[in-house]
Parts: sequence; C-alpha cells; structure tokens
Amino acid sequence: MQAVRCFGELMPQQIKQFTLKDFPLVGYNSTDDLPRKNGQLQVRGENYHTDHSNEIAPPKATALLAITLPTRGGDTQFVDVRRAYDDLPAALKEQLLGKRSLHVHQSNRSPRAFAQLSAEALAQIPQTAQPLVIKHPDNQRHALYLNTGRMQGLEGMPDDEAFALIDQLYHHATHARYEYRHTWQVGDLVIWDNRSVMHQANADYDPQERRYLYRLMVKGVPLTAAT
Ligand SMILES: [Fe+2]
Repeated sequence: MQAVRCFGELMPQQIKQFTLKDFPLVGYNSTDDLPRKNGQLQVRGENYHTDHSNEIAPPKATALLAITLPTRGGDTQFVDVRRAYDDLPAALKEQLLGKRSLHVHQSNRSPRAFAQLSAEALAQIPQTAQPLVIKHPDNQRHALYLNTGRMQGLEGMPDDEAFALIDQLYHHATHARYEYRHTWQVGDLVIWDNRSVMHQANADYDPQERRYLYRLMVKGVPLTAAT
C-alpha cells in the first residue's frame, strides 16, 4: 500500500466483494472466485479495457502485485493508446474530436460478461459520458479512451455506426505494435497509467492452478476531451 501511495491517494474498489476484509482499499484477483464454463476459467478483465471508465473520475493508475501464479500463462498485456491515436489519419482524428460515449456497468454490446450484480448494487454503480479522445491531465498528450465492455455507443450517432467506429478504433489500438506483454513472477508489482494504456488479462492457464494478485488503484480526476 505504501509503494502505491507514492503515486497518489488510494481509490476504493468498485466491486466490494473482491476486497480484503481488513484492508478494504486492497482488491484481489483470485482464481478461487472465478466461474468455470466447459472446464475453462471465466477470467475477469479479458479483452482490452481501462479500469472503472464509468466513474466520473476514473483511477489514474492501477497496480497489481503477484502473490501466487500458475506454472505458465496468465500474462497481462498493455497497449499504448497515445501512440495508437497519434498514428490515426488526420481526417479520422478530426472526426473523433468532440465525440463522447456513455460508459455504463456493462454495455449492451459488451464482448465479455461483467460481475452479476443485484439491482441494489447496480444502482450504486455510476455511469459517465467520457470523451472518445482524452487529453492527459499531466502531460496533455492525446489518447483514445476505449472500453468496449462499458461503452454504450456514441452520443448523437446511430448505434450501428457508433459501434462500428468503436470496433474499428479498438481493432487499431490493440495491434501488436502497441503492445507490451508482462509475464509475471511472484512479487512483481506493476503499476500503469489508465489514461495512457489499456490492459487485458489472459485465461490461458491451467484452471486447476491457483492465481492470486492484489489490486490497488490510485484516485484520478475527471477526464477532459482533446481539442
Ligand atoms: Fe482491469
């Protein structure tokens, strides 16, 4: 906790059921809690995303600390959404400016299933319209802000057209040329900037083996649109 606090104030975890009893600011990702379908683990965080994008002030950073790891697999991948934005054609960049998307708990076209919540718990989860292209609050760099699991289309655009544009940008931004893949070792602490990269988990390990990581988040500020 002390190490992550060097980067700012800790942010409470959105899903309280996956937090430590004595340290509620510390969440965890554990295979013990994961449902299995046809013998395959249903891993949280599969497909590239940025954490808690439905919050008015999403976490500026997320940290994972590896405690128990499977023999192989379970890497975490990151893609640089600043470079992905920089590489877009000028005409497309122009088209994206000013566009916003409502980020909700789970988009009705989400490629993955999120935690099932009671109606009461769901009512506590915020939803926020976020810019499609953000300006980093510290260094002013422009970046794509995508989370296909939570984006409910684009404001003022018919759904089919909006989701096609989101898919196109997602496909572009998740190309291997923007990727860093982290192969975990026990004790690794990885912290990343959620306004600069997207990340994803991998369900490619033996479901009989245990994988357990702590997760901490650092408070961010409301996002501003690139101009
Ligand atoms: Fe995540």
